[in-house]
Amino acid sequence: MPLENMKKMLDAAKRGGYAVGAFNMLDYNSAKAIIEAAEDLKAPVIIQTSAKTVIFWGSSAIISWVRELVRSSTVPIALHLDHCKDVQLITECIEAGWSSVMIDASSKSFEENLNLSRRVVEMAHPKNVTVEAELGAIVGVEDEIHIKEQDAHLADPQQAIRFCEEVEPDCFAPAIGTAHGIYKGEPKIAYDRLEEIASKTGVPIALHGGTGLADEVFKKCIALGCAKVNISTQLKYAFIDGFVAYHNAHNTQYDPLKVIAAQFDAVKAGIIGNIKLFGSAGKA
Ligand code: 13P
Repeated sequence: MPLENMKKMLDAAKRGGYAVGAFNMLDYNSAKAIIEAAEDLKAPVIIQTSAKTVIFWGSSAIISWVRELVRSSTVPIALHLDHCKDVQLITECIEAGWSSVMIDASSKSFEENLNLSRRVVEMAHPKNVTVEAELGAIVGVEDEIHIKEQDAHLADPQQAIRFCEEVEPDCFAPAIGTAHGIYKGEPKIAYDRLEEIASKTGVPIALHGGTGLADEVFKKCIALGCAKVNISTQLKYAFIDGFVAYHNAHNTQYDPLKVIAAQFDAVKAGIIGNIKLFGSAGKA
């Protein structure tokens, strides 16, 4: 199947009261694990690339791996550029074949964020590429974007309504109290705000900072309108721990393909659990 953009899968998820998992790939092996997990569960899935990963491998290598993997797939798959501040990199990914992009202009003033996000939508939509945009500041580190706790702020519902009316994003990421990375304490999720923003904008909401949230938190956020759930840190841990654990248990073996297979299994197992929890299994 060719790559799809996020529109159909997120609209269906919002209507159906489930969420599509969006997982940050790191290389060919992790992209394959994401796709195999989705195939096994007959779930739509979003493969995300951080800007850092695109810069590390190059857009042409990534698109060729993903296209090769997607060619024989039977489930809807989107390739989405996660948090990107750089319009030039967004343009490069759209030209290379990404089916979806995120413009993260959330560190700019409200008006600048609105204008830049609007520009990206105007560039992406004629090419059938969907756009996610962010409002407010999500605490933690994602890619090269560091937001300290004292600088984080939640999205304002009135601004969110105007933002979505004028930008017309396909997916909206308002800061609602989740954080990128490992949670230090219990996150305080602004459920009221999420509910108001999701119902008044009508736009499928992206839940950022998925790693470490409790099952009930996911379920509540999805019920309130989160149609996309982002998971990155969990994959980074599985990627490294899967590799290291295998090597520690077989430390005289030095058979790289066996280590790579163990890494694959660790990444895939986590994703299987996520997809089941988000309710998207069987929705392809
Ligand atoms: P985590 O790294 O906390 O899973 O967050 C992922 C994310 O929101 C990517 O944009």
